[in-house]
Amino acid sequence: MTILDGRALSQKVMEDIKVEVSNYKKRGIVPGLAMILVGNNPASLLYVNMKAKACEQVGIYSINHRLPQEITEKKLLSVIEALNENPMIHGILVQLPLPEHIDESRVVEAVAPCKDVDGFHPYNMGRLARGNPCFISCTASGIMKLLEAYDIEVKGKDVVVVGAGNITGKPMALLLLNRGATVQVCHVFTKGLEDKVKNADIVVSAVGKEGLITGDMIKEGAVVIDVGIKKKGDSVVGDVDFGSVSSKASFITPVPGGVGPMTIAMLLHNTLKAVSLSLNS
Ligand code: GUN
Repeated sequence: MTILDGRALSQKVMEDIKVEVSNYKKRGIVPGLAMILVGNNPASLLYVNMKAKACEQVGIYSINHRLPQEITEKKLLSVIEALNENPMIHGILVQLPLPEHIDESRVVEAVAPCKDVDGFHPYNMGRLARGNPCFISCTASGIMKLLEAYDIEVKGKDVVVVGAGNITGKPMALLLLNRGATVQVCHVFTKGLEDKVKNADIVVSAVGKEGLITGDMIKEGAVVIDVGIKKKGDSVVGDVDFGSVSSKASFITPVPGGVGPMTIAMLLHNTLKAVSLSLNS
């Protein structure tokens, strides 16, 4: 069994990004990322701070707009509009979830597709669905990069994606499908999850439910990717019961130190892609 070390790979990716950033700076271009956080969700605050720290490590300029929980949708849209117009800002990220009184789709659609470093805009989701992607969800592309780094072939493989959300499950399924995998997407209404997972060569679980995937559900030699993150006391746990699953799997991601760091590295990668798009437009 091999542990897929997302922390080590993300550091390697970030080293390359650092060089690219410094090359841009030599040309007088400072890559800029704006992050918007509405309210005080502690997990979101932690993620945004981690993203800001990663930007600092590679030399990307980042600004963090912290907006009050009660902000109106109109005001939030006007903040996004200003960032769309700001030439210093190449990438825009609105941390999700948003408060309930705000229409998430309207907000996601307000971000200029060419600055949509999360890949959440329907333009970018649509391009991914058509197999001609521009920005791809950082978690999905981070997982793909991790699989590639360990020479794990997805073409022709039976993959089960557990979780059908817009942030990970759906883009992951599309990306895998584009690469020739046979993909089954499972969700809360899925019947017989266990049997479906048991037949998979690769399992990606993105639910956020501790212990959802156990060793008895895993085919001998399967590849298991754990996207779940749930706080438990002072530590975080994933969807996968690491102890029982690791004795069956050929490859497995740890939590923490698996998918999470790759997501952040791909955000930086997407920010540089946004810089490149801005120069070619
Ligand atoms: N909330 C949970 N994951 C993410 C992410 O990757 N991007 C944004 N914007 N919000 C999130």
